[in-house]
Amino acid sequence: MQDSLAESLREFDRQSRIGPVDIYPHMMKITFAMVGRSLFGARLKEEDIELISLAISTVQEFMVRQTIQPYLNPWFAVSGELRRHEEMRARAFGVLRDYIRRRRSEPPGNDLLQILMDARYSDGEGMSDELILSESMQLLVAGHETSSNALSWLLYLLSARPDCVDRVRQEFDSVLGEKPLSFSDVPKFEFTTQVILEALRLYPPFWMVDRIALADDRAGDLEIPRGSTVVVFIYGAHHSPQYWENPESFDHERFAKVNEKRHTPFAHLPFGAGPRGCIGGNYAVLQILMILSVLLRKYDFRLVPGQTIEARPMVILRPEHGIRMNFTESFPRGAGRLRTPEGDRLYVP
Ligand code: HEM
Repeated sequence: MQDSLAESLREFDRQSRIGPVDIYPHMMKITFAMVGRSLFGARLKEEDIELISLAISTVQEFMVRQTIQPYLNPWFAVSGELRRHEEMRARAFGVLRDYIRRRRSEPPGNDLLQILMDARYSDGEGMSDELILSESMQLLVAGHETSSNALSWLLYLLSARPDCVDRVRQEFDSVLGEKPLSFSDVPKFEFTTQVILEALRLYPPFWMVDRIALADDRAGDLEIPRGSTVVVFIYGAHHSPQYWENPESFDHERFAKVNEKRHTPFAHLPFGAGPRGCIGGNYAVLQILMILSVLLRKYDFRLVPGQTIEARPMVILRPEHGIRMNFTESFPRGAGRLRTPEGDRLYVP
């Protein structure tokens, strides 16, 4: 994850020196490369990762159009749009299928794909290549768009709260010092975790989840006939004054340990709940912390004024017009300027 982050940040750094950057596509790129590396290791070529990434976003956008504008489906079929997207999907699957086959005959890697290939059911059987393909595609999709949206909203919220940014930086400094972040450090980030949870409350990437009732049921006064679609409106629960005081305001204190008991159960469910809840929550928090630890300590950042920031509920709650920000390299904290005959120099006391 660290290697992948270092590589992705080179491009981010180059762009941010030129002018304001839209953080949304950058966060997508960074998290996709990271999840791709965790899943498939460094042996999957960068151009293949890019092809898969493009296929996922293009096909997903098309699927949303098919759902929102179903009356266009006949047109998609005759105009060749459907076929074009099918082909794109097939190409991306083909690249991954070939990679999985190749890996079967190569020395073991240190990645999630290896774990999937080594996994055995209770009868000793392993997973077929097709199942591994489908599981890893699922992880790739579930593992980057969610975190990248969470990060984009988090940076947006933090841009209005320099006091929080300072405290997050202090926590990174005191927990990490100069060393890179690793998984065992995660529980030590008490304050930053509060900030992340509050951002996930205000902007839950999965703004709703749905289920189909397998049998007749009842919730309070509501009859739920078998076969109906039940929508759990996560965004609604997170913004309801019934469960939260001043629900629209950013207040990380809600998630301070002392206040935990005041929460209504299941009023905060960014990772879902029950047997089909998120299996990547810990990975996501690690990923967000890792990216924040580098971005916040390297840069000062400011929202470009005069832009409209709007949340658009697609499959994921995403910023409709992006979020443009200026990033400038910050001095190391505690650093100052040293006057010398040659001019000003940076010094770190
Ligand atoms: C901030 C980041 C994330 C959020 C907010 C999030 C949220 C969710 C939610 C709400 C669900 C439940 C969907 C439902 O009930 O229908 C879910 C499922 C899932 N998530 Fe995440 N997720 C995040 C990151 C990740 C990551 C990083 C991974 C993998 C590396 C991941 C893998 C999955 C998988 C595989 C499922 C399906 C589980 C199943 O159906 O049994 N998620 N996620």
